[in-house]
Amino acid sequence: MAVVIVAAGSGSRLGADGPKAFVEVEGTALLTHAVCRAVASVDIAYLVVVAPPHHLTEAAGCVAAGIAGVAGPVVDGLVTAVVPGGPERGDSVMAGLAVLPADIEVVLVHDAARALAPAALFDAVVAAVRGGHPAVVPGLPVVDTIKEVDEAGVVRATPVRARLRAVQTPQGFDRAVLDRAHAAAADQATDDAALVERLGLPVLVIPGDLLAHKITTPADLGLAALLLRRGA
Ligand code: CTP
Ligand code: MG
Repeated sequence: MAVVIVAAGSGSRLGADGPKAFVEVEGTALLTHAVCRAVASVDIAYLVVVAPPHHLTEAAGCVAAGIAGVAGPVVDGLVTAVVPGGPERGDSVMAGLAVLPADIEVVLVHDAARALAPAALFDAVVAAVRGGHPAVVPGLPVVDTIKEVDEAGVVRATPVRARLRAVQTPQGFDRAVLDRAHAAAADQATDDAALVERLGLPVLVIPGDLLAHKITTPADLGLAALLLRRGA
């Protein structure tokens, strides 16, 4: 199993001095938090971090620090790579997929911005993929009522809330399916599962985790710090 952590975004909505992946929460970079949890997952053999092109050394430092934060045999034999990302998230995912060894069967794609997603969530996603589902995403029930609007802001539809899920990462895939989905992608999608949906293949949603919340704005950093102080 391989994990691709995409960390090449600028973090414009966070508005920090540098790329979001290197912003610290409780003294540790978001990317380091993400690596530390990903490499604690049971099945991982290969880790690719996709980083901002001018920050590859800094990203490699986060990989080393994240691995150092995990004790035990899980990390033995783990192979890592750091590669430069592209202009859009989808380009960065493809850059990561491009360096995976041929024998990788299951790929998890994870946002560095979901820095506190726990190892158990990685394990649950992998188990569902190995159980026969070609695409698996964690998701949480939506608490707000969601409206679809037109260009003028007028509501066109109100989807039944009970059937909506806010999906997270890590998203897990049969490797061949994910490669095919990205090769066929004519334009960008906001997640990888959407590309698999376009192939007409089923995507399974499993229970997500509050800790996999995406850090997007400064308020999200405050929530992450609170969760860490409570032992996340
Ligand atoms: N990402 C990436 N390459 C890009 C854009 C995004 O690897 N060209 C990654 C980000 O680093 C992040 C994840 O995709 O881990 C989710 O993206 P998002 O939360 O939108 O992060 P940013 O694009 O960095 O933030 P913003 O949209 O606010 O600029
Ligand atoms: Mg973005």
